[in-house]
Amino acid sequence: MSEAVKALFANIAPKYDLLNRVLSARNDVRWRKRILGQVRGAPGDVLDLACGTFDLGLEALEQGKAQRVHGCDFCQPMLVAGADKRRGHPLSASVGDALHLPFADGSFDLAMVAYGWRNFGDPQASVRELARVLRPGGQLLILEFFRPTSWWPKTFYGTFGKVIFPLAGGALAGNASAYRYLNDSIAGFLSRDEADAVIAAGGFGKQRWESFFGGISHGVVAQLT
Ligand SMILES: C[S@@+](CC[C@H](N)C(=O)[O-])C[C@H]1O[C@@H](n2cnc3c(N)ncnc32)[C@H](O)[C@@H]1O
Repeated sequence: MSEAVKALFANIAPKYDLLNRVLSARNDVRWRKRILGQVRGAPGDVLDLACGTFDLGLEALEQGKAQRVHGCDFCQPMLVAGADKRRGHPLSASVGDALHLPFADGSFDLAMVAYGWRNFGDPQASVRELARVLRPGGQLLILEFFRPTSWWPKTFYGTFGKVIFPLAGGALAGNASAYRYLNDSIAGFLSRDEADAVIAAGGFGKQRWESFFGGISHGVVAQLT
């Protein structure tokens, strides 16, 4: 499963940013900014897991929420696609898997994941792994699409998600099935309330949630207790 996900992202990597902007009508940029606004405290060492092309890490630096960012992703071509964007910024990168992070315990003050958690295979194990690499009192930020439970997100994903995502993916990235996977992976993932419980069970309290576009996407910042 994870090899198939890696191959999928490798295939769409050169067109990934373009598709994000088109499919979300640039809202993805706004949602990253908004959820970073929930991060509290002095800037420090930040992990951007499943960093893709570094949009979240760059925004964290822009907002002064990070001194240094380390981006980690299991798909090298995504890191390559974003390489020009991180040049000149205190943003390093490495290849690594979310369930076996190549970092010592207590390496970061803030660990972030935007639109990656859904792909990790084991949501609880990945939260435990993120908790491991955080320092005491560190913060976790997750931005994600969760399985819809109310009428508007269900309607959105059942129509726009089912039809337009694959059409746009086929037209702009030459890969309709990757964007079919996007919708299917959302339908098979945790609901927002289930995610809340998984994060709490991973040792995080003080969860601050924000909903975007009527619940199409959600973000949370929580603190290691
Ligand atoms: C939808 S993209 C999100 C990229 C970026 N965070 C953003 O906001 O645009 C999901 C990313 O998760 C990465 N990914 C998926 N499963 C992973 C895993 N098990 N370990 C590390 N990265 C993973 C993919 O390679 C891809 O770059």
